[in-house]
Amino acid sequence: MLRMRSEGAGYADTLVSSMGLSAQAETGARDARARMNAPDDFILRAVDLVHQYGTVTALDHVSLDVKRGEFLTILGESGSGKTTMLRVISGLEKVSHAAQLTLDGVDVRDVPAAKRNCTTVFQSYALFPHMSVEENVGYGLKLRGVPKDEARRQATDALSMVRLSGKGTRRIGQLSGGERQRVALARAIVTRPAILLLDEPLGALDEKLRYDMQAELVDIHRALGMTFIYITHSQEEALTMSDRIMLMRRGRIEQCGTPEDLFDRPASRFAAEFMGFDNVLPCTVLAVSENGEARVDFNGTVLSGVCASGANFKEGDSALFAVRAERLAPILNEQTQRAGNVIACAPADHIYRGKYTDQTARMADATRLKIRSWDQSATPGQFDAVTCRAQDCVILSH
Ligand SMILES: Nc1ncnc2c1ncn2[C@@H]1O[C@H](COP(=O)(O)OP(=O)(O)OP(=O)(O)O)[C@@H](O)[C@H]1O
Ligand SMILES: [Mg+2]
Repeated sequence: MLRMRSEGAGYADTLVSSMGLSAQAETGARDARARMNAPDDFILRAVDLVHQYGTVTALDHVSLDVKRGEFLTILGESGSGKTTMLRVISGLEKVSHAAQLTLDGVDVRDVPAAKRNCTTVFQSYALFPHMSVEENVGYGLKLRGVPKDEARRQATDALSMVRLSGKGTRRIGQLSGGERQRVALARAIVTRPAILLLDEPLGALDEKLRYDMQAELVDIHRALGMTFIYITHSQEEALTMSDRIMLMRRGRIEQCGTPEDLFDRPASRFAAEFMGFDNVLPCTVLAVSENGEARVDFNGTVLSGVCASGANFKEGDSALFAVRAERLAPILNEQTQRAGNVIACAPADHIYRGKYTDQTARMADATRLKIRSWDQSATPGQFDAVTCRAQDCVILSH
């Protein structure tokens, strides 16, 4: 898994260094990163949020702490409450109930949106079409009474940060979709809010542009040291960009953790399936070891895996054995002696998808397994079983 966040100094760092605000921004970023390690320094604390639209419960007892400078991604299927979460934080929606909702230590439950120190970037850009790019970006500064020359300088800086230098005098209608989203981003960062809320900002862009913008957003986040709360439907986007991912389901938090936690150690069947564990088999627990591994029985096949966090299995419990399609390797009969976690099966069909091949295998009892092979030259067309490492398999509660 490629993590953008672990890369070295990026474009925005370089850019910030070359702009007038370099020292301030770099110090800000360094301070923010240092502050992230202070356990009690939360920019957002939300305890027991409930939000209702009439009879629809969009947030159902959600609690979340976000550290200063963190990049938190909210992931979840349509209707799970992601946008509502952002609207409640920003104040665009007055929360129905909250035991606590503080931004930068201030109770904002009764504070209107305009007075909260956070800005939202929407998928739909929400730009002023009759204004130029520079006027759009400078609008928030004008409202705050920032002197004209200073506002222009800051708008120019923000535009260069999103790679739109020289396009300040253009009208919005003269820009591409990607450029409009950059203007929206520049307009949001120019006022340096404590938290930037981004609601699927790349959703309308094509794949290549989205990929480029992902990297730029991570760079900008790093350079500014601002806290980002970012919504996406895309598992890949969440995994590559975030410090932490909050997976939502039906108005609740299904799981919240690092990208590695969610990718390798989903805590529930829903999280596993959402994060791409294509094979989820019902099984019975045979034994649990002290290192957190379990042996299970699946229709007479004994398999090993790691117990999901929070699961407390005992012998005889019914459970689920989950493994990703790309972690199953097809093998021949003569290889099964030396392999662990062997599941006997035969090829059923396969689909060539360009970068990889998806195969379906059928077990004697007709259970189907999904196999994904990236190295197609090494994938046998014929096989007698599949094997996987115990550490790639998760044992989940029903
Ligand atoms: N203004 C509204 N009035 C009534 N119900 C609403 C309103 N806005 C959202 N909802 C409902 O609240 C729930 C959560 O909606 P929300 O927009 O937060 O979901 P979402 O996770 O952002 O979905 P999507 O990925 O489609 O944007 C859904 O059931 C939705 O139908
Ligand atoms: Mg939404």
